[in-house]
Amino acid sequence: MKKILVTGGCGYIGGHTIVDLINNGFDVISVDDLSKGSERMMLGVEQVLHRKVKNYKVNLCNLEDTEAIFNENPDIVGIIHFAAFKSVPESVAEPLKYYRNNLQSLVNILQCAQDFGVHHFVFSSSCSVYGNTTQLPVDELAPLAQAESPYAHTKQIGEDICRNIATVNDDFNTILLRYFNPVGAHESAIIGELQEKPENLVPVITQTAIGKREEMHVFGTDYPTRDGSCVRDYIHVMDIANAHTRALQYLIDGKNQERCEVFNLGTGNGVTVLELIHSFEKVTGQKLNYKLGPRRAGDVVEVYANNNKAKELLGWETKYSLDQMMDTAWRWEVAMKKEAANVGLN
Ligand code: WQD
Repeated sequence: MKKILVTGGCGYIGGHTIVDLINNGFDVISVDDLSKGSERMMLGVEQVLHRKVKNYKVNLCNLEDTEAIFNENPDIVGIIHFAAFKSVPESVAEPLKYYRNNLQSLVNILQCAQDFGVHHFVFSSSCSVYGNTTQLPVDELAPLAQAESPYAHTKQIGEDICRNIATVNDDFNTILLRYFNPVGAHESAIIGELQEKPENLVPVITQTAIGKREEMHVFGTDYPTRDGSCVRDYIHVMDIANAHTRALQYLIDGKNQERCEVFNLGTGNGVTVLELIHSFEKVTGQKLNYKLGPRRAGDVVEVYANNNKAKELLGWETKYSLDQMMDTAWRWEVAMKKEAANVGLN
């Protein structure tokens, strides 16, 4: 079995991707310092897979500790790099923390890939690199506008670093995956998004519906969209996960045309905030306590993907509908509540 190193493997997308990689015949090790990820995620991944997955509790900003992982695992054939801070508002409040962490960790993992002869590298990027694009649906050739936040800027810089390293190393191939809005949870409801105080829409909805939050606000209903609320391309986390497996296999099979290729990971469907809320209420039967409020600074009005390139070159298809995204997100929230109650009982 080919061994893959997943950085940030104890995080939301990292954990779900490990499930898909192992289900598709890869061997996987993880590195995650648990500053944002959690042991609970890895325990859930092992429960879903019925097998152990080793996580190295290492901060990738420490080059020596990172090199030790490669010395212990000389058979790593590919890397998927998720490990990064990803809160937009936190990056605005503490930009240096984001530039230092997200860029130093990337430089170190690339240094190790180069020094230890790892030829295949998948980089976790984001649709936020497009900024407030006017091209909709947005494709991979769209020009990148000014980043809306230091977080998005670290993703733009990260993409450039990966592209430049691939340009000078003819045995190094990289794929940049630009996620739109990952939501939902594994169908088992054993793993999902773990955030105590989320800012992203879907966990805010499920926490409001289950009573963890009193209420929630729709940030703006006066936008130039079909119902006045913002439009996003929500995509199930397991569809995102499978794209990583396919991207890695594509590189290992040498199918890439260039040494650095970019793919959008979205469904291609734009959904408004109010439409998503109505889907949630319909699917779960839960009445949501939401109020219409003012716009949130930094929000783009509308963004959704042209995903034809990933479909054609990676053979990737999205399998989950919006209703299934809402159903799995809700069942995960319910499962977390039961788990918390059981812990309380023990
Ligand atoms: C979606 C819509 C909000 C909360 C961010 C990052 C992006 C990626 C995904 C990492 C917006 C509205 C939200 C609420 C609301 N992160 N909303 N009430 O901002 O599209 O993307 O997360 O990769 O890089 O930028 O996601 O879920 O925060 O917001 O009305 O309580 O929901 O205004 O229109 P966003 P989001």
